[in-house]
Amino acid sequence: MATMVTLIGLVNRIQRVCTVLGDYGESTASSSLPTLWESLPSVVVVGGQSSGKSSVLESIVGRDFLPRGSGIVTRRPLVLQLHKTESGTREHAEFLHLPGKRFTDFSMVRKEIQDETDKMTGKSKQISPVPIHLSIYSPNVVDLTLIDLPGLTKVAVEGQPESIVKDIENMVRSYVEKPNCIILAITPANQDIATSDAIKLSREVDPTGERTFGVLTKLDLMDKGTNATDVLEGRAYSLQHPWVGIVNRSQADINKNVDMIAARRQEREFFATNPDYRHLAGRMGSEYLAKLLSKHLESVIKARIPGIISLVNRSIDELEEELNHLGRPVTVDAGAQLYTILELCRAFDRVFKEHLDGGRPGGDR
Ligand code: GDP
Ligand code: NA
Ligand code: MG
Repeated sequence: MATMVTLIGLVNRIQRVCTVLGDYGESTASSSLPTLWESLPSVVVVGGQSSGKSSVLESIVGRDFLPRGSGIVTRRPLVLQLHKTESGTREHAEFLHLPGKRFTDFSMVRKEIQDETDKMTGKSKQISPVPIHLSIYSPNVVDLTLIDLPGLTKVAVEGQPESIVKDIENMVRSYVEKPNCIILAITPANQDIATSDAIKLSREVDPTGERTFGVLTKLDLMDKGTNATDVLEGRAYSLQHPWVGIVNRSQADINKNVDMIAARRQEREFFATNPDYRHLAGRMGSEYLAKLLSKHLESVIKARIPGIISLVNRSIDELEEELNHLGRPVTVDAGAQLYTILELCRAFDRVFKEHLDGGRPGGDR
């Protein structure tokens, strides 16, 4: 149903405006917009290095487009906004920092992410909190906003300052400690879950587990004779939401250029035919995870509408005051920018209220 698509779309737009204004969740104290960003729900991918974070994101999107390699590849937050388009439309990607430039070649998307990362961090392997915004328009995605963050790590590698371990943890923590953050805790099944960085951190910031989704990757790499049914059936490490098991492409698959369509098929076959997991097949895999998250995000946004409205209204008040204050001889640019933001806020307010007053149920799409 179009209703909720529009809601997630609106929230996506507010997030982009916030980034343009330099608000990406780090408190700057001066304006009300940081709190606006903080009030918006988003899904954040958290896990140790090589736990499969990038692979999970690519599976959800159904496309190869993320830089990969060993070491800390993701060095800036990537805010990934997925927009479902009508079937038959051409898939394309667009960066916020390159307005109007359409990418249809996803290997160029990867290159642009790399270049933009290097631009901000030098080639120094440092990290930067300034997010890269990427929108993907495709008939094959669900409406969803996902944030990819650098992997948690225990040691610095060559060329990196010792402080990087703590810096990454602090950056990840600054996202996941926000009460509106939905945590995708990526944990490889072939390692001891008790030592999972993702679970450790999410337990700390979300002790009741109500906003944490456990994702168990690498089920295909578990030792013969062992399985993860204890976790997947909710007997171990139980969270409020059931864990979702995933089988991503192996490094060998990637080297052989196994494409995402084939990868999704392999994953479906794995769950459908594996005697340990066959009975769970309906709620396993990356396609299921994408739908689950989109549904959850919709309901969270809906529940937050009243809060978002009051924040938007506060922003409107402050912006109006600021405009009055600036009076006539403002530089045209500053005035025009504020005015645009004001208009945008009013539009949000209107649409949010429609959703609220109309009381139209989300329903199925
Ligand atoms: P990240 O560092 O957390 O982003 O991890 P990546 O997604 O880059 O994955 C690290 C490595 O693990 C890559 O070589 C992937 O091919 C491999 N990998 C990730 N998930 C799985 C999985 O479910 N099964 C297998 N066999 N390999 C996986
Ligand atoms: Na990696
Ligand atoms: Mg990665």
